[in-house]
Amino acid sequence: MRTVIAGGHGKIALRLTRLLAARGDEVISLIRNPEHAQDVRAAGGEPVVCDLERAQVEEVAAHMKGAEAAVFAAGAGPGSGAARKDTVDRAASVLLADAAEQAGVRRFVQISSMGAGNPPDPDRGEVWAAYIEAKTRAEEDLRARDLDWIVLRPGRLTDEQGTCLVTLAEPPVSPGSVPRDDVAAVIVTLLDTPEVRNRTLELTSGDTPIVGAVRALLP
Ligand SMILES: NC(=O)c1ccc[n+]([C@@H]2O[C@H](COP(=O)([O-])OP(=O)(O)OC[C@H]3O[C@@H](n4cnc5c(N)ncnc54)[C@H](OP(=O)(O)O)[C@@H]3O)[C@@H](O)[C@H]2O)c1
Repeated sequence: MRTVIAGGHGKIALRLTRLLAARGDEVISLIRNPEHAQDVRAAGGEPVVCDLERAQVEEVAAHMKGAEAAVFAAGAGPGSGAARKDTVDRAASVLLADAAEQAGVRRFVQISSMGAGNPPDPDRGEVWAAYIEAKTRAEEDLRARDLDWIVLRPGRLTDEQGTCLVTLAEPPVSPGSVPRDDVAAVIVTLLDTPEVRNRTLELTSGDTPIVGAVRALLP
């Protein structure tokens, strides 16, 4: 399988790249900083420098030709302000989805966030509100498309070792955290289970093995 990962140098993205490459899949990693190319190669991906806040849809679509799946794993990151929540967390996802449609890539996994789709907690300030607004609008854009989409909303991400034990279900799931390792492993299993599509799923650590949690979502 050939998968395009937007934000290919991200922490989840590199974990996902390692998992996919280890079993012989091809990974095309869209990165904006050329200095990240070596890390992507070391993980087993093919780096392509493509700044998703500047690229045109035709350019992104050209990088997606021949892929079976796209994963939106980019994010403006914790140090960024409200403007980049819009240009990355919303607009770059819209751009990737436009490009997926143009390139004929039907399977699309969007990493969103728990909290999206709900009013933001006013105590968390303006940047949080902009982040939730951006994720919510990116989700709405994806749901309206004729793609085989999954909106995946992880809880608070950690760098702890994965346990492969999760709660994965349609909202609402009780708030919680989840290791990035497990988010990557869930995405691999979702990519392998095309029958699970057009669903919004929340993800935290839990007590169900990942394969069983995804199987439980089969129609
Ligand atoms: N932190 C949490 O607790 C939490 C919870 C739920 C969901 N999430 C979401 O989960 C997703 C992945 O999280 P993560 O921790 O793996 O993220 P991460 O490590 O911050 O990775 C995000 C990646 O997006 C890239 N990116 C930013 N702007 C870009 C652009 N214009 N073009 C191409 N790539 C660009 C970044 O590249 P640069 O290094 O060049 O900036 C970075 O490699 C994010 O969308 C995040 O919002 C986070």
